[in-house]
Amino acid sequence: MSPSRLDPYRPTWAEIDLDALAANLAAVRQRVRAAPILAVVKADAYGHGAVEVARALEAEGVETFGVALPEEGIELRRAGIARPIVLLGGFTPEQAEPVLAHDLIPAIYRPDQVAALAGAASRRGVRAKAHLKIDTGMGRLGLPAADVPAFAPLLEETRAIDLCGAFSHLAVADDPADPFTRLQIDLFLRALEALRERSLRPAQVHLANSAAILDHPPAWLTLVRPGLVLYGYLPSDRMTPLAVRPVLSLRSRIIYLKSVSPGTSLGYGRTFVASRTTRVGSLALGYDDGVPRSVGNKGHVLVRGRKAPIIGRVSMDLTTVDLGEIPDVALGEEAVVIGRSGQEALGADQVAAWAGTITWEVLCGIGSRVPRLYRRAGREKVASRFDATLA
Ligand SMILES: Cc1ncc(COP(=O)(O)O)c(C=O)c1O
Repeated sequence: MSPSRLDPYRPTWAEIDLDALAANLAAVRQRVRAAPILAVVKADAYGHGAVEVARALEAEGVETFGVALPEEGIELRRAGIARPIVLLGGFTPEQAEPVLAHDLIPAIYRPDQVAALAGAASRRGVRAKAHLKIDTGMGRLGLPAADVPAFAPLLEETRAIDLCGAFSHLAVADDPADPFTRLQIDLFLRALEALRERSLRPAQVHLANSAAILDHPPAWLTLVRPGLVLYGYLPSDRMTPLAVRPVLSLRSRIIYLKSVSPGTSLGYGRTFVASRTTRVGSLALGYDDGVPRSVGNKGHVLVRGRKAPIIGRVSMDLTTVDLGEIPDVALGEEAVVIGRSGQEALGADQVAAWAGTITWEVLCGIGSRVPRLYRRAGREKVASRFDATLA
């Protein structure tokens, strides 16, 4: 049973086990020994809710947070998060003022960012902290490692910027056998040398995402940046295991139930046609709520601890399941898309495999209209985008 505090909402909710989050953090800490943690809480903490997740992690002593955007950092500051927040994706020159106003530490990698940040810092009479983002092979964003020697003098001259960090991102760390990770680590270390030659000595140098935390100790350096592993999943099945457990479960209810006879079609495109008489349940969630459209006619949900195949196309708000093998299911019963039901469990990684995508995308795909029910040390709290609407 979901608690009555969910009554104002459509019967679909995500449960976030903050005790599991704390346990996963402890497991990461044990693996990396002394390295401080930059917890990655971008994209609304991978769909778990950035504010509540950051509050819980701050209470557990996480040293630093990482988000992608200034907006995400401001959201955390407004919620009272006090630890340092690094903007891993950087900022636009127009955002320099709000970045400083909210005490955020941006990644920098373009000369116009240096100018804008230094200008805003000078106007405020402060030194702006920043981390240099160096591209060692991911190839998306960041100063190419080969360009660091040419860029360093600009940073050295810009006294209004305190270059307290430098980082890079690994492209294939989830394959422990791929030699490219070693090349990226070496390139990064050489880029740090080039900074040192210009008397730039960032104290925080970091490279390690979840995969590198699990399998590349040389990448741990002075700070590690776990994302996925904090939420309870391993980046791939090739990783050295770590005892983490999923933090989130996604649950819904059967809001319509009917018997169908052979030949009856269901959903857009009529991609499912019943071959026998069966019972069909309609669940109160769809692809805006975290069931990828591509799992239509693939995979299953759990009802009473048993598998109910997903039939027909998943639509925006609804998913249909075959309940023919589960006797006596009633209207209003719970269906588990991610999580535990009886002796069975379904992971976001399994849903991702059916959908032909990755665990990260499934978690991030749980839309903002799904209320989040947080559990912590026996206490519960609901957070929803509709809180003000329904108040
Ligand atoms: C720069 C950076 N560091 C760390 C992470 C965390 O990665 P993961 O979720 O694989 O641990 C991300 C996530 O994409 C990232 O963009």
